[in-house]
This record gives sequence, C-alpha cells and structure tokens, in this order.
Amino acid sequence: MTIEDIYALIASDMEGVNRCIQTRLQSEVVLINQIGTYIINSGGKRLRPIIHLLAARSLAYEGSQHIELATVIEFIHTATLLHDDIVDGSDLRRGKETANHLFGNEASVLVGDFLYSRAFEMMVEVGSMPVMDILAHATNTIAEGEVLQLLNVHDADTTEARYLEVIHNKTAKLFESAAQLGAVIAGHSEEEAQAMKAYGMHLGCAFQLIDDVLDYRASSEETGKNIGDDLAEGKPTMPLIYAMHHGNPEQAAEIRRAIEEGGLERIDKVCAAIESTGAIDYTADCAQIEADKAIEALSIIPASDYKDALSFLAEFSVRRTY
Ligand code: IPE
Ligand code: IPE
Ligand code: MG
Ligand code: MG
Repeated sequence: MTIEDIYALIASDMEGVNRCIQTRLQSEVVLINQIGTYIINSGGKRLRPIIHLLAARSLAYEGSQHIELATVIEFIHTATLLHDDIVDGSDLRRGKETANHLFGNEASVLVGDFLYSRAFEMMVEVGSMPVMDILAHATNTIAEGEVLQLLNVHDADTTEARYLEVIHNKTAKLFESAAQLGAVIAGHSEEEAQAMKAYGMHLGCAFQLIDDVLDYRASSEETGKNIGDDLAEGKPTMPLIYAMHHGNPEQAAEIRRAIEEGGLERIDKVCAAIESTGAIDYTADCAQIEADKAIEALSIIPASDYKDALSFLAEFSVRRTY
C-alpha cells in the first residue's frame, strides 16, 4: 500500500471535502479569501480529514456529515498552523512562504480566527452535541498545548513527561478527534468510539515525535519547512532532551546552553551529541511504539480496506520524510 492508494480509496469523499473547503472558505472580505485560499491550497497532506473519512467508512457510515466534519477538522488544523507560524517565527511552510511572512502577523492572526469560527459555525450546522463537545474540547486542548510549550521554551529542565504532554495536547488531540468522530457519526458502540479515539491519539503522538526528528534530520526540500527551527527557538523536543540526559557532561552543558539561549551557533555540536547518544533512534523508537499502539487499538474494528488504510497511516506517520 502507498499513500496514493489511500487517496484513491477515498477519492470521491476527498473531492467532496475539497469542494466543501472551497465553498466554506468564501467571505465577502477579499483578504480572507486571499489568505485562506493561499494557505489551504498550498498542498498540505490532508491527513486529519483522511483519517476522519477512513474511520467513518470503516464503520460503514453512509451519510454525508463526514464531508462537513473533515472540512471542519482541516479548518481547525489550518487555523492552528497560521497561529503557530507566527508564534514560531517560521517563514516557510509547505515549500512556500508562510502567510505571516507574506501577509503579516496581523492578517494571519485574524484569518486564523476566521477559520476557527467558520469551523464552529459548521459544526453547529451538523447539529450534534457530542460532535460539538469533542471538537470544542479538542480546540481548547490544542491552545493549552501551544501555551504549555511556550512555557517550556528556553527551559532546559523540561522533562520528557512535560514534552509528551505538550505533543499530546497540541498535535495528538486533533488526530484523536478526527478518528473518534468517524465512529460517533457512524453511530457505533462506545467501545468502537474509544478504539478510534485511542488510534488517533497514539498516531498523533507518533506523528509529532517524527516531526521533531525531521527538524534535525530531514531537508527543507522534503518537509517544506525550515530545518533547525526548534533548536533556533530553544524548544526542548525529545531528541534534545534525550541527548542532554545521555551525553557526556560537556555535551549536556552545550545542549543546556543551546536550549536556554536559542539560536543556531551550537548546531554542529548539538547535532554531534544527538548523533553520538542515539537520540534520533530513541525518538523514532518511541514513535514506533505509539504507532504499534495505534494499530493495536484497531483490533476490534471489522476488517476492510479502510481499516487497512488506517493501519498504513500509523506506519506512514513513523516512516514519513515530509
Ligand atoms: C503540521 O502538520 C503540524 C504538526 C502537527 C507537526 P502536517 O504535517 O499534517 O501539515 P500539512 O497539513 O501536511 O502541511
Ligand atoms: C505544530 O507544532 C502544532 C500545531 C499545529 C498546533 P510545530 O510548531 O512543532 O509544527 P511545525 O513544525 O511548525 O509544523
Ligand atoms: Mg511551528
Ligand atoms: Mg510550534
């Protein structure tokens, strides 16, 4: 199986989602259309909507709410990216200039707000209290995760546990909701909804662990983002935390200073420490454990091509280079 097979498996649903995205992005305000269209058509992987569609289909859902909800989920994701790129001072995403870089922070904040609130209008239209409950809670948790991370920046005493809490909140929660909502709209048992929820949560943790590996390992051509941003920001992610705790005293001191001061002056020494301590392998192993748990959570879901695709995406989250 490849990622292309998955796009083919849900091609008509995805067409519906893309149509819905374009329609619901519209506004009378030109700048909203401009920035909204710029970011949403800039070639994201659409992983969260795909997971939602697959989860619903794997539980034999036959309605049309999955199209609206997949759109809502992608809008929330896009809003978080608009805000995140400002907070992180990023100027490259999806291989293009970020919206904040091109249009300015003010416009990016406000269009992010537009996308959040449009997502909330749409989820009200779906008219299901459990759906609104899950998405409202997820959005709130993402915000908490980003703020929690802000507190960890430049703090070299950030523990692995605190890092894991951040990635659970800022990233895994939306994957969790995407999968869980597939079961909720399919009207399935609590057991199946919980299985989907666990699948999404574990996949999301794996996904962010690898994102944090890629920040040290990949190339900008592959990820479409600037490499080394986390170190430049003094962001204590898993590879750094591990290398600091397992390096020799000199390496530990170097990483501590790198976290506290940010910048890229120490990148060579930091990368050498990450290399010699096996911090990348350790982080990738943690991601693999999460992906295995995601697949294990699907064991009670009936066999189908959709279920196989969900399993594949858990593995993809670990193997990905972009
Ligand atoms: C980026 O997510 C933000 C993270 C949680 C790491 P994606 O890698 O899914 O972003 P796009 O939508 O494909 O660009
Ligand atoms: C993105 O986290 C988290 C959210 C989407 C809220 P990062 O800051 O680690 O992701 P990238 O590297 O900018 O995509
Ligand atoms: Mg960022
Ligand atoms: Mg960030």
